[in-house]
Amino acid sequence: MKVTYFGHACVQVEVNGKTILFDPFITPNELAKDVDVEELSPDYILISHGHEDHLADAEAIAKRTGATIVSNFEITTWFQQKGIENVHPMNHGGAWSFDFGKVKLVKAVHSSTLPDGTNGGNPGGFVIESEEGNFYFAGDTALTMDMKLIPMFTKLDFALLPIGDNFTMGVEEAIVASDFIECNTIVGMHFDTFGYIVIDHDKAKEAFSNKNKELVLIEIGKTKNI
Ligand code: NI
Ligand code: MN
Repeated sequence: MKVTYFGHACVQVEVNGKTILFDPFITPNELAKDVDVEELSPDYILISHGHEDHLADAEAIAKRTGATIVSNFEITTWFQQKGIENVHPMNHGGAWSFDFGKVKLVKAVHSSTLPDGTNGGNPGGFVIESEEGNFYFAGDTALTMDMKLIPMFTKLDFALLPIGDNFTMGVEEAIVASDFIECNTIVGMHFDTFGYIVIDHDKAKEAFSNKNKELVLIEIGKTKNI
């Protein structure tokens, strides 16, 4: 699968000919200033929780492209009230088969209030199963025992985990998370964007390789086949 990183927790994955964009936060992100949001044409926008740094560009992209927003019920309702018709509401533990593959909304330990103070439901992550492979987008989360449920149902090929610490788990916990989800290919996200989450890339990669795991850090705007 082609995985493109747009900074922070914004990742695009091409699956079965469809383009899925996760947690678009590009225009407010100084580190992603060379990414042109107008050039993105996702079929789906998956949003893990209600925080601004995960949905800042979602409304504009959805209105321009007609992409379907997939998120929890509270967040899809919020976007509907902004005039976006193509939404698919979900809730934790539920899965739905889309035209690219199956999506399950799983638990994240975090918060989820929307930018205007509206209740954004509970934060989540997504497990995607497709003919081309399976992966997990964790969203913003602490290390949680619930991650152990994922490999009981899905054999993951790779996982996108937050590694920036302070607001989410850091490198040490992400390594344990990769044990819990039984997946040794981890794409790091949610680091460097703000002062609180700046990390040492080499140290992070070394910590993973010491446990015979790979931490993939994709340069912003670049694509990797995983
Ligand atoms: Ni958050
Ligand atoms: Mn965040």
